[in-house]
Amino acid sequence: MEKKVTLTGLQPTGVITLGNYIGAIGQMVEYQEKYNSILFIADMHAITVPIDSETLSKNIRQLIALYIACGIDPDKNLIFLQSDNEFHANISWMLECNTYFGELSRMTQFKDKSAKNANFSAGLFTYPVLMAADILAYDADYVPVGVDQKQHVEIARDIAIRFNKKYGDVFKIPEPLIRIEGTKILDLQDPTKKMSKSSENQKGVIRILDDADVIRKKVNAAVTDSIGKVNYDPINQPGITNLINIYASLTGLNKEEIAKKYADANYGTFKREVGDVIIERFSAVQEKYNDLINSKRLDEILDEGKEKSREIAKKKYILMKEKIGLRR
Ligand code: TYM
Repeated sequence: MEKKVTLTGLQPTGVITLGNYIGAIGQMVEYQEKYNSILFIADMHAITVPIDSETLSKNIRQLIALYIACGIDPDKNLIFLQSDNEFHANISWMLECNTYFGELSRMTQFKDKSAKNANFSAGLFTYPVLMAADILAYDADYVPVGVDQKQHVEIARDIAIRFNKKYGDVFKIPEPLIRIEGTKILDLQDPTKKMSKSSENQKGVIRILDDADVIRKKVNAAVTDSIGKVNYDPINQPGITNLINIYASLTGLNKEEIAKKYADANYGTFKREVGDVIIERFSAVQEKYNDLINSKRLDEILDEGKEKSREIAKKKYILMKEKIGLRR
């Protein structure tokens, strides 16, 4: 039987966070063993909001090194840059012409981001369609993401179903893959919002390149509550519940096992253990990252990925043109 295709991408908008690691990369490291895996860098999405060009190119290289340092095996994954493959934007245009203004207006991420800046770009609005192109061009079966991207995978499904109805069987209908415990890692200082690369308060965000003592300090300073018992209770103990989710995602234990294990522990003890697992995991990543960041191997991986991804996406692009009635 053919292997199922799993695909995801991350934006090079800053050093990736513990949330990105748990929500996306960590899942891909597991799936590469059983699926046909595709992992790209969504650099075209990164320019939907203002970003300085030097920072962007530094972030792109850093992210590719981090993918590999996190355990993504270039021999088991197709790794590439979205901007190296012009078919994504071309496919996106044909999809845009089959997407309604109304449905894009309802996207939560668009509503949040456009509310923050009155001069938002048209790209910010059509962003989910480019994401649909990323997914549909490769006939992805599964899209591992955090819960914040679920709505975007759902609109990709809606667009694919609509296109297939109109033009025949062109696209596979993808499904989001969301891990229960890692669904949404929250900001350590404000557990009502997600841990985000672009957060202003750095204390609430753990980044994959943070030093061990910085990680320790951030975890120790995580906001908790006055209940004083390690319980999984998202409503009354969101801070502790977030730490349980982090611990669960990194150790593979489930939330009941963790609550039982720490039933008699105080928050200080629990935080120390959570800090330990993050530090252990990230220091191994950092060591590999330092070996890789200046190596030519990264360029070879990208050159190879560019070629292979273009071959696949081009086929879909030509099929779409044909179905729509454009000249082949
Ligand atoms: P991005 O770069 O914002 O985030 C990358 C991945 O990390 C997940 N994530 C989280 N998961 C759990 N807890 C958090 N606090 C957290 N923060 C982020 C995101 O859900 C995502 O899976 N639009 C996408 C990039 C993209 C893409 C695609 C993804 C472009 N095309 C096609 C999948 C398929 C984005 O901005 O992710």
